[in-house]
Amino acid sequence: MQALIQKTAKALVQARNAVALTGAGASIESGIPPFRGPGGLWERMDPMEVAHIDAFRRDPEKVWRLLIQGMQEVLTAASPNAGHRGLAQLEQWGYLQAVITQNVDGLHQAAGSRDVIEFHGSFAWQRCLDCDRRCETHRVDLSRIPPRCSCGGIYRPDCIFFGELIPPQLLERSHQLMARCDVLLVVGTSATVQPAAMMPLLAKETGARVIEINPEPTPLTGRISDFFLQGGAGAVMDDILASVAAMRASTV
Ligand code: APR
Repeated sequence: MQALIQKTAKALVQARNAVALTGAGASIESGIPPFRGPGGLWERMDPMEVAHIDAFRRDPEKVWRLLIQGMQEVLTAASPNAGHRGLAQLEQWGYLQAVITQNVDGLHQAAGSRDVIEFHGSFAWQRCLDCDRRCETHRVDLSRIPPRCSCGGIYRPDCIFFGELIPPQLLERSHQLMARCDVLLVVGTSATVQPAAMMPLLAKETGARVIEINPEPTPLTGRISDFFLQGGAGAVMDDILASVAAMRASTV
């Protein structure tokens, strides 16, 4: 594993356009449960019943009570972990260009990452189903469920539900990044939900080195990923940053 850490650090230091793609596994060490695998939300609930836009429109109160309120509490209590901080440090040192995240928790920005593409939107904002007005979640009166906009419409998180499309401008920017990237760090995603799961394949096609950080193998492992660093995001990123820092020190 140490050899892979060294190879990853060297690839990042030598990269011209390194990008990170993150999923729920990047936030597990911040106390936010994943969707799949041990403790996953979808092990306890059917996503088609609580995370599809049709389910929300059919019964917004049910979705707010079963999914969104619980998420709100967990996300409010969460803070960045070593994995988020490591990616932010790589960006500050100039070794990482951007983070494309499937997460809606805002923890990359809280850790200091500046160029973050929130592929599935952000829980920090709510949007009115009727007038489309956006309001920061912490300013919305959540004592009434479902919460309502001043126009009387129902608020929904400004996140992408199943059955909805990724905003075209985010998809386009992500494709552009994949077309130019020479190193893609894939951190904590099961690589099962499209179109995010397509990004590593696009990067691979344009010759990027794909480096996966995950305790478990995924459909990318052994097929798309060049390196598989088996472990949790926090500990692995700590090791990578220590190796990059040593390389920087030796070139001063
Ligand atoms: N560090 C890194 N990865 C971890 C850790 C950890 N400490 N613990 C678990 N993992 C890995 C799991 O092995 C799994 O591969 O994180 C991944 C979590 O997978 P999912 O829960 O499927 O999360 P994600 O890939 O982000 O899901 C994609 O599905 O339901 C939708 O919109 C939702 O954005 C989400 C999308």
